[in-house]
Amino acid sequence: MKFFIDTANLEQIKEAQGLGVLDGVTTNPSLMAKEGIKGEKNIIEHYKKICEIVDGDVSAEVISTEFEGMIAEGEKLAALHPQIVVKVPVIKEGIKAIKYLTDKGIRTNCTLVFSSGQALLAAKAGATYVSPFIGRLDDNSTDGVELIRQIVEMYNYYEFDTQVLAASIRHTMHIIKCVEAGADVATCPLSAILGLLKHPLTDLGLEKFLADYHKLNG
Ligand code: E4P
Repeated sequence: MKFFIDTANLEQIKEAQGLGVLDGVTTNPSLMAKEGIKGEKNIIEHYKKICEIVDGDVSAEVISTEFEGMIAEGEKLAALHPQIVVKVPVIKEGIKAIKYLTDKGIRTNCTLVFSSGQALLAAKAGATYVSPFIGRLDDNSTDGVELIRQIVEMYNYYEFDTQVLAASIRHTMHIIKCVEAGADVATCPLSAILGLLKHPLTDLGLEKFLADYHKLNG
């Protein structure tokens, strides 16, 4: 199970990288906007900074919605750094762009996936990753983790190489459920990753160990 952090915030990326368990980063235009990163030059510089901080894959999303624009953007983004994975929405033009970029040896992350049919087309086009958005499905009274389970089963059955990247993770329990469903990757907010560490018995146990040590050793 690979861990990506889902943010464009450099401090959070550094903190997650510092844990030593981070495998990559996913960004999207909303996350970039949240950090106030605007203008092509600044956006490109920001992606480069992220690649310098982490060792793994960094998803950078295209803005175009037609094939020519998507592949031009995708080729430019991929040329920035070997760690860049081009993030493309699962629309008709996007599937064509994923196929084109895959044939050129450029890795892709097919995003905004909400159904197994979309995931099937992403895999057929050769996407490196498929990103089902589980939190947004849950928000719409649909079981997001169940979609992860269905896609994992389909990819295993047909032996697709595309990795299932569980996205739109909102909390720690989502991560645990995605592990159980067999996701290859979970992209998470820092709070959800740190939440994996939390257990009151750990805190109580450590408090007692230290208290007993200090009773004798001052
Ligand atoms: C995925 O790569 C997206 O960046 C992200 O997970 C979307 O999450 P949200 O639904 O919390 O915006």
